[in-house]
Amino acid sequence: MEVKVICGDITKVKVDAAIVNLFEGVEHPGGATGAVDQALGGTISQLIGEGEIKGKLNEVTLIHTMGKTEPERVAVVGLGKQEKFTYDSIRGVMAAACRSLRKVGAKRVATIIHGAGAGGMDVEGAVQALTEGSILGLYGFRKHVTKEAEHGEIEELLIVERDESRLPSLESGVNRGRVLAEATNFGRDMINQPANYMTPSDMAEVARGGAADWGLEFNVLEREEMERLGMGAFLGVAQGSKQAPKFIVMGYRGGDLAASPLGVIGKGLTFDSGGISIKPSEGMDEMKGDMAGGGAVIAAMRAIAELKPRINVTGLVPATENLPGGAALKPGDILKAMNGKTIEVVSTDAEGRLIVADALSYARKLGLSPLVDVATLTGACRIALGDICSGAFGNDQELVTKVIKAGEEAGERIWQLPMYEEYKEQNKSEVADVKNTGGRYAGAITAAQFLAEFSEDTPWVHLDIAGPSFIKKERGYLIKGATGVGVRTLVNLALALAEEQSK
Ligand code: BES
Ligand code: MN
Ligand code: ZN
Repeated sequence: MEVKVICGDITKVKVDAAIVNLFEGVEHPGGATGAVDQALGGTISQLIGEGEIKGKLNEVTLIHTMGKTEPERVAVVGLGKQEKFTYDSIRGVMAAACRSLRKVGAKRVATIIHGAGAGGMDVEGAVQALTEGSILGLYGFRKHVTKEAEHGEIEELLIVERDESRLPSLESGVNRGRVLAEATNFGRDMINQPANYMTPSDMAEVARGGAADWGLEFNVLEREEMERLGMGAFLGVAQGSKQAPKFIVMGYRGGDLAASPLGVIGKGLTFDSGGISIKPSEGMDEMKGDMAGGGAVIAAMRAIAELKPRINVTGLVPATENLPGGAALKPGDILKAMNGKTIEVVSTDAEGRLIVADALSYARKLGLSPLVDVATLTGACRIALGDICSGAFGNDQELVTKVIKAGEEAGERIWQLPMYEEYKEQNKSEVADVKNTGGRYAGAITAAQFLAEFSEDTPWVHLDIAGPSFIKKERGYLIKGATGVGVRTLVNLALALAEEQSK
């Protein structure tokens, strides 16, 4: 879908449908919605009076205009209560409206800028959110469905603005929104692919092709190289699978050579069976999404390459399968990680922290700082926070706060969990430096404490996305399946750090 900004009057654009809006409780629509109401001879006001249009958040009412306006239909979307209205409401509202209009066969759609009038929002931000919500909300994963879709696709979205002087800033909002949403959908595609279509090698190839297209530096470490580097933790996980492990490295150079490069790390388990500590079969298919962190990092690198912030960023994705092959890691095995620490493997299903551990060491070896890792790390985090937000952990409060803020701007909610020293006790091993599981209590925290052994003194944040990475039911602009959570947070963080560095 193409998104364009045009200067004009929403009642006079030739489109299949025009989207206007209403806050909850408003009886007499003003602004552009008011103008459309007038052109329609008061139909919208009448429907409000009759209680059919209430303005409830994400409510969509379709009206056929029967030649009274150029748009053939008008979709009135509810913005909900004005005091609760945010940029994320705009994303959700556009997703709902676009999906309704797609269902009725609309190809060309126009919209006014929600939030710009009575909402009192920054218009560039509003237009960015509007673009993001539309592109994210229309996403679908149909790569393997041979049957024709029940609906066509919206081909063009026109954002209609009356004031010509505003167009340049609106265009920059559209561009940022488009880049973020398209990168997220790219990530969703990778994550939704089943494990037989998204092996570690496939992941590396997708990243390689992307890097060439987006102008990024690219490298893949193969098994031998990883052996030389002493990545015993990562290789321990990989040894149960016939698929070759790949350590993907992508580099973006937009900043000073002297400035500190941001390192982003994504867990790339293309399938997590649990290994010898095998998972129950019910729901195991979901573990095709255990590379969601890795997918998010690759997708974020794409958006960063397109938006070109003045900062250097390196993306690292350790990619492997966790399978119980004949050579597999066994409970009780002891591994030596790249930083020299020894790990007692209590459960082969706590594999994510093993591969991320070596990725953190490698990032430190490259001199990257600060570090942010994104991983579907623990079921415990999903139990604690559900699929509504990610868990954050870190060794540097300022950085944690920046990451949470970057997420907030993206509509990706992040909740910090504590890293009290006492939790470390649970990871103590009698036969090695550390164990890879700390028991059932506070599982998300002990996993983070384990990672902290490898980020050492580099400023670092860990995002556990096990909850929100994959959802079972559509929610706003999030489609069932992979959400692409983390992509927009990482990009926003890179943009914010770039701003800081240029000061
Ligand atoms: N990939 C899983 C975590 C997960 C669970 C992600 C559900 C998404 C949805 C991870 O590798 C894992 O298996 N963690 C174990 C750790 C335990 C053995 C200490 C878990 O959470 O049960
Ligand atoms: Mn696991
Ligand atoms: Zn896993």
